[in-house]
Amino acid sequence: MNFNVINNSDSKNQTSHLSDSALQDNLSRAALNPKTGFVESMPDLNLSEALISKRHLIHNLNQIRSKIGPSCKIMGIVKANAYGHNVKEVSATLFSNGVRSFGVANINEAIELKQHFIEQQLENEPFEILAFASPLPEQLPFYLMHDIDLTLTNYETYSQAEAVAQAHNSCFNVHLKVDTGMGRLGVSMNDALELARLIERSPYLNLKSIYSHFASSGEDMPFSRQQSQHFKSLTREFEHSEGRKVLKHMANSGAIVSDHDTYYDMVRPGILLYGYTPSSAIKTSLNLKPVMQFQSRVTFIKWVEAGQTISYGRTWEAKKRTRIATISVGYADGYHRALSNNSFVEIHGKGFQQIGNVTMDQIMVSLGEDTSVNVGDVAVLFGWNGPKANELADRIGTIGYELLCSVSPRVKRVILED
Ligand SMILES: Cc1ncc(COP(=O)(O)O)c(C=O)c1O
Repeated sequence: MNFNVINNSDSKNQTSHLSDSALQDNLSRAALNPKTGFVESMPDLNLSEALISKRHLIHNLNQIRSKIGPSCKIMGIVKANAYGHNVKEVSATLFSNGVRSFGVANINEAIELKQHFIEQQLENEPFEILAFASPLPEQLPFYLMHDIDLTLTNYETYSQAEAVAQAHNSCFNVHLKVDTGMGRLGVSMNDALELARLIERSPYLNLKSIYSHFASSGEDMPFSRQQSQHFKSLTREFEHSEGRKVLKHMANSGAIVSDHDTYYDMVRPGILLYGYTPSSAIKTSLNLKPVMQFQSRVTFIKWVEAGQTISYGRTWEAKKRTRIATISVGYADGYHRALSNNSFVEIHGKGFQQIGNVTMDQIMVSLGEDTSVNVGDVAVLFGWNGPKANELADRIGTIGYELLCSVSPRVKRVILED
């Protein structure tokens, strides 16, 4: 018996054959235990999957490296399950390719990542994990317990952190975040110098870096330059008055591709690592490759006559006799409903229009009169062989980040090692 599964990122139709032994393994794992009547261990039989190419990730990392040069460090941004790509695989790949700084959203993600590094026995090499969120007081002890770097954004957290460290006879590793115009988190420019000096003098706080974040890098260049100027003057003043250098970082992906002057000591790429610029309006000379390919399989094919409608709400009607394929993916997998009648999939390298409303678990595509597509064929939703995430995002007024992050946990991540 032949089953098609994915195992090769470069093959044109992305299919190969599951070996008989692998199939037997799946079947026996799914078999009922005769004593308990339960399935012992369920194989993942979902048809939609996200292929994750380690090769493309390393390629993108090297592209960034060649752009920023050897003296600038990289903090790999792996928050939100590495933008939906699988944080364990992504961070381990970055680690084995020399990245030692990691940025995550909050203390919870930080602890998960730390645990993973411990499991991988990587903890003997020095590395840092910075949680970007401003912590609540009850979260503070966990930074100490797990040796996670703290983002400090205000006086209140400064005092709370001092008290917690004192009580535990310990010391926080602190990155002071300054709001130069993003308006999300950070101490104001007016208060930043004073807070930086307080941290510097505290025996309970080790000031590891001062950082900031761009609001519109790669797009609004005058505003970004202004942000960078504020950051530069603040950090210069601090270094001058304290008589020491401090690690400075500000550049996200938009800044990396657009303004060399923002690199400082370290850059913090997220979306570039995953193969995209922040938006399709932001162009780059970097050769980026999508790291994720979201794809599923055709499960059903039929001919419909002129006048027949497709899916909920009957938003698509056949103009003539048309062959229709149903694909096993829907908005519960992260294929946005907003894409209804407004996207296409690629099957055997050929684009087919998605038609009718996207449903929770299935979509339909028009094959026209094409008879080459069969049940079981792979349909690429977005990725290196199909439409690009940014391209689909543009169609529905969002950004590629959101499409990547919303590929749901029900979609298995298949890691391509080559
Ligand atoms: C503080 C911080 N730095 C860096 C990044 C990476 O941004 P990008 O994915 O645009 O490179 C993010 C992501 O939003 C962030 O919040």
